[in-house]
Amino acid sequence: MEFQEHTVLIVDDERNTREGLRLSLEDEFDIYVAANISEAEEILKNEKVDVMVTDLRLGGENGMDLIQKTLSRAKAPVCILMTAYGSVDVAVEAMKKGAYDYVSKPLNIDELEIVIKRAIRSRNVEEENQALKAQVTERFGLENIIGQSMVMKPVFDTIKQVAPTRATVLIEGESGTGKELVGRAIHNLSGRPTSKLVTVHCAALSEQLLESELFGHERGAFTGAMERRIGRFEEANGGTLFLDEIGEIDLNVQVKLLRAIGERTIERLGSNKPIKVDVRVVAATNKDLSEMVKEGTFRDDLFFRLNVVSIHMPPLRTRKEDIVLLVDSFLKEFAEENGKGTMELTNDALQLLLEYDWPGNVRELRTAIEHGVVMANGSKIGIRHLPTFLTDDSHRGFRQKPAAGTSAPSTKSDESLIDSDDLNLARIEQKMIRIALDRTGGNRTEAATLLGISRRTMQRKLKEMGLIDG
Ligand SMILES: Nc1ncnc2c1ncn2[C@@H]1O[C@H](COP(=O)(O)OP(=O)(O)OP(=O)(O)O)[C@@H](O)[C@H]1O
Ligand SMILES: [Mg+2]
Repeated sequence: MEFQEHTVLIVDDERNTREGLRLSLEDEFDIYVAANISEAEEILKNEKVDVMVTDLRLGGENGMDLIQKTLSRAKAPVCILMTAYGSVDVAVEAMKKGAYDYVSKPLNIDELEIVIKRAIRSRNVEEENQALKAQVTERFGLENIIGQSMVMKPVFDTIKQVAPTRATVLIEGESGTGKELVGRAIHNLSGRPTSKLVTVHCAALSEQLLESELFGHERGAFTGAMERRIGRFEEANGGTLFLDEIGEIDLNVQVKLLRAIGERTIERLGSNKPIKVDVRVVAATNKDLSEMVKEGTFRDDLFFRLNVVSIHMPPLRTRKEDIVLLVDSFLKEFAEENGKGTMELTNDALQLLLEYDWPGNVRELRTAIEHGVVMANGSKIGIRHLPTFLTDDSHRGFRQKPAAGTSAPSTKSDESLIDSDDLNLARIEQKMIRIALDRTGGNRTEAATLLGISRRTMQRKLKEMGLIDG
């Protein structure tokens, strides 16, 4: 009964075998039969088949070919091969090619039935796994961008939305929040994956060098221009140009950049021949460009050009729930890089990471984990293996009240629940009671409610702790 709805396709060139199998199996499964490869393919094309059982010899055709072709389909059924008694090596060959199992002829119907049921179960597990994997990528973001916090959701949504378009994107956010990572994701998801991603770090170059970097120059365009040089716009033609630290560029270069983006035309330095370029521009900055526009240090027309779509990268301290995921990923990365096995943080080390403010954001966290992996001797990374800035108090958010709108766990304003490696249950219990009393301003009834215990139990525990008499 359980397998009633599953569909089995039987492929055999002998009519008697086909019909015999149909009769013996049709109580358990939905049965289709085919006499040759093309009949089988016709059925596979039109029906959802869970399991295909095929004979090895199909007249002049070969069941192995059918299996191979079938397994390359998008929704391939599980394949079982029927072979003449004794040809085990052929069967093994079939399994190497991806067949699920084989049965020998003459057939034992009970055995075949068991194999088919097992095949169906394996297929269900496989499907579940795939669904789970799809869900995981969905939840954990795009490309290599890790994060499942609510504040990251609009980031992922916007990337997905704009990537396939040609729209200019401005990515804003503090240093180390992942702006470059997002730029790369937009390029990778642009649907032009064979095209190039070219990055220019605008802050690193003087005005003239930046200009020639972007637009190229003719020989002799300026002192030192010995050779003609193609600029980054031309290099990125057909692809994406990532302009990092766009807030640093000089007003003069801003004018030229505006023209290049607006008119899709550039001129090399020392030439006035316009060159057409088809480039998608993604810009990033850790400055507040709209503020710079007000101050007159950034052109408003360029700002509007760049800001067709903007993505705000949230600081790490506003998405602390992502820290655990990021830590996991960085632990794996650096453990592998340093030839170490599985590494993990002690509870108090992890807690320290959760309490810290991360002014350098994800980059700073990444470096801290690398430090820990390198410094630890065994597989456990403790507080003493982490960088010392984590233990001086200046950036420890838990000393202050959490800022409004942060989604940090509420325990962060309390002293650490699990101190050092003290896992003594009685002591932890007492600590929880003290925290509950603190939070409720000493109101025992409210504290009991918070702890999920009765008022009487609370009384008893307080007595045991010597906090009340009686
Ligand atoms: N969400 C994330 N998931 C995984 N790794 C991340 C994430 N965000 C940032 N990183 C990593 O942190 C480091 C810094 O990221 P990135 O260079 O993209 O930051 P940025 O915003 O461009 O910083 P800056 O303004 O200093 O240039 C990189 O190693 C990057 O891979
Ligand atoms: Mg960057």
